[in-house]
Amino acid sequence: MTTDACICGFSYVRGLAEDEALHRKIHSEYFIGPSVPSVLKTPVLGEIDGYAVHVVDGRSPFDTRRKIAHVAMVAHRSMSAYPAGYDGTVTEDNQRLYVLVERRRVIGFVLSARDTRFWRLRWSEGGLVELLDRNASIHVGHKIGRVWIAAKFQRRGLAKRLLLVASAHLGMGISEMAWEVPFTASGSALVRSVSPSTFFGCGDIQAVRDTISIEPPPGAASQVRR
Ligand SMILES: CC(C)(COP(=O)(O)OP(=O)(O)OC[C@H]1O[C@@H](n2cnc3c(N)ncnc32)[C@H](O)[C@@H]1OP(=O)(O)O)[C@@H](O)C(=O)NCCC(=O)NCCS
Ligand SMILES: [Zn+2]
Repeated sequence: MTTDACICGFSYVRGLAEDEALHRKIHSEYFIGPSVPSVLKTPVLGEIDGYAVHVVDGRSPFDTRRKIAHVAMVAHRSMSAYPAGYDGTVTEDNQRLYVLVERRRVIGFVLSARDTRFWRLRWSEGGLVELLDRNASIHVGHKIGRVWIAAKFQRRGLAKRLLLVASAHLGMGISEMAWEVPFTASGSALVRSVSPSTFFGCGDIQAVRDTISIEPPPGAASQVRR
């Protein structure tokens, strides 16, 4: 018996009919996105390449939010080190899910939420991340918590354009957006393309430690200690 760990995040026993069938479903969700008919009940903000952009927020019916939350699980499967971050419940941080829809299939999403602690960061050579200020800026603002595009639809500029729609809806310029850290490799490329110089990162001390490669010069007491 051979156990295969697929890129979609599913480990299964090859040749076992039950496992093979479950893998086909999970792999299809990873590759072309899950079918979530409830999404059609949510408002449309616009379209990108003919795909509708819907928004799901605290005003969406609970049952709709709960069903759509499945997309966060689909994203989570292929990046298990990163929490799903959205389960459909209404939270205090005003989560909004911007979803890209092909017919009834969700092919991508941007998750935004409110946060209060923003670390000023900068890209330096080789994709390293530098911490610019020792202390986080404390204010209320929006962050991007997660971006996901189904594998078949990646590298067509969809994430970038979905971020533009989301940031306009949040009333911010795309380069002013803050980002939940740490990043995956493709997430890093996306953030770098959108914010090539400085940007704000959100996350706890450990997440910031995992992200930065260059600390600010010694000075005032640091909140980030290695
Ligand atoms: C990250 C992700 C959402 C990007 O989606 P996408 O639709 O393919 O991104 P876009 O086509 O809009 O690309 C935006 C920019 O990022 C770059 N980019 C995207 N994926 C990349 C990759 N894997 N390697 C290198 N560069 C990449 C593009 O070249 C483009 O740069 P440009 O504007 O300078 O040409 C997608 O790869 C994904 O869903 N990955 C799995 C989930 C994940 O890791 N999410 C991020 C969590 S932090
Ligand atoms: Zn698979």
